[in-house]
Amino acid sequence: MGPDDRFGEPPAARSEPGPAESPPGQECLWLTTTTPAQTQHVGAVLGRLLAPGDVILLQGPLGAGKTCLTQGIVRGFGLPARVTSPSFTLANVYEAPPGRCPLYHLDLWRIKSAPEALGIGLDEYLDGSGPCVIEWPEVAADVLPREYLRIRFEIVGETRRLEICAIGTRPRALLEQFRTALGESAEMIGGSGAARD
Ligand SMILES: Nc1ncnc2c1ncn2[C@@H]1O[C@H](COP(=O)(O)OP(=O)(O)OP(=O)(O)O)[C@@H](O)[C@H]1O
Ligand SMILES: [Mg+2]
Repeated sequence: MGPDDRFGEPPAARSEPGPAESPPGQECLWLTTTTPAQTQHVGAVLGRLLAPGDVILLQGPLGAGKTCLTQGIVRGFGLPARVTSPSFTLANVYEAPPGRCPLYHLDLWRIKSAPEALGIGLDEYLDGSGPCVIEWPEVAADVLPREYLRIRFEIVGETRRLEICAIGTRPRALLEQFRTALGESAEMIGGSGAARD
């Protein structure tokens, strides 16, 4: 099974917000953001809900907004860190003040294989004391946890379509909390939820 099989087919290009039903075994939510600030807002709403052990996979082309969303996640998680693309360092650890846990931000764009991902300490981050946000996770699909929240970005001009899918029990609960927390702003940014499969 190849990495792309593991994560399924990328979403088909579409002009409407999203399909009405989630794929089997997943629960999904679709959002559209029209500015970087909106994407950061979505990230901040999610970041407030994260706990140690949560794994957030960010998929989508270069410049899609994965780091932009992560900036919001880190802000929502309550860390004052300045979030930059970890493309050259591969991993950023946003340290927390005493009593709080850190957040790990990985970018596997430059990684060529799952063993190489393990070699940079992927397992240690996943087993670490904070949530883990991973850009370009495909190469490590075979060694990632079975449960995660996966956010796929699609670029349409200045608009970004986000497909947010929960795989697993904790991610499903997280997605449910996220849907509630988005509240009216989900309407504002063109969110469309989906019934459970
Ligand atoms: N609605 C939007 N949401 C997010 N970013 C947007 C949006 N519209 C335009 N942009 C621009 O798209 C770019 C997103 O850059 P970002 O670094 O977040 O992408 P990325 O997916 O992390 O790319 P990479 O794969 O290179 O790491 C920024 O320049 C941002 O200003
Ligand atoms: Mg990035």
